[in-house]
Amino acid sequence: MARPAIVAALPPSEQGAVIAELSQAGFDAIPISRPIDLETLLASRRDVAVAILDGERDFDTSLEYYALLHEAGQDIPALMVLSPRALESMTLGPSRADARDEFFTRPYSPDALRWRVEAMCIRSMTVDDGSGAVLGGGSTEMTDWQRRAQLLAVFNPKGGVGKTTVATNLASALAVNQGQRVLLVDADTVTGHVTTSLAWNRSGRSLTAGVTSSRAGRSRRWPTSQRRTRRACRSCR
Ligand SMILES: Nc1ncnc2c1ncn2[C@@H]1O[C@H](COP(=O)(O)OP(=O)(O)OP(=O)(O)O)[C@@H](O)[C@H]1O
Ligand SMILES: [Mg+2]
Repeated sequence: MARPAIVAALPPSEQGAVIAELSQAGFDAIPISRPIDLETLLASRRDVAVAILDGERDFDTSLEYYALLHEAGQDIPALMVLSPRALESMTLGPSRADARDEFFTRPYSPDALRWRVEAMCIRSMTVDDGSGAVLGGGSTEMTDWQRRAQLLAVFNPKGGVGKTTVATNLASALAVNQGQRVLLVDADTVTGHVTTSLAWNRSGRSLTAGVTSSRAGRSRRWPTSQRRTRRACRSCR
């Protein structure tokens, strides 16, 4: 599926590197230098997920851009790039910012900006190939979740930084040390390997199979790696 379009209206000294980074990530990265360019673009494209704006150097022009993002039934989130000082003065005064808009402070690396854009795309649910939003429905109100369980998320957009290690050890420690019932879900659709870390891969247990067999009371025995974790956790007490 094609990735969404991202528009960037940044100063010339930043624009090139940001466009290159976003293009490399597979986005249709479109440089914009005047509000009329954005107006023309939005008249023909409905797949703009995020607009990166300069919230500091030319504030009036940014406001023009901002208005366009919310015209004609569109509600495109803006990522405002500005200095920490400008951010501070904005947060002190009245703000026109939408709840989905975000701020990003200078100095920044194009890589860090790209990951912020990735996160905004997920949140905005605008990745739509015509078959509907990828993410949608359901309640995300914390009160709903709290009734059922405490939710802990181990998140980092970067690969290989220890998410699985932290998540599996945390889950094991909560289960073994605290005696809590823990549901560990690996939401990584590509490289999820929680089951490998817990040595469950050989038994071929999926989440569904695990839930089904535990309901039937057949999952009393811990896999080898968990027994090891159990022993280690006991010796830590
Ligand atoms: N605190 C640590 N010190 C040293 N090495 C670590 C530490 N935490 C994790 N590792 C090692 O770093 C590697 C990556 O860890 P892990 O698989 O947990 O990362 P990840 O963020 O889940 O990666 P991916 O994005 O591929 O899912 C593994 O080989 C792991 O053993
Ligand atoms: Mg992982």
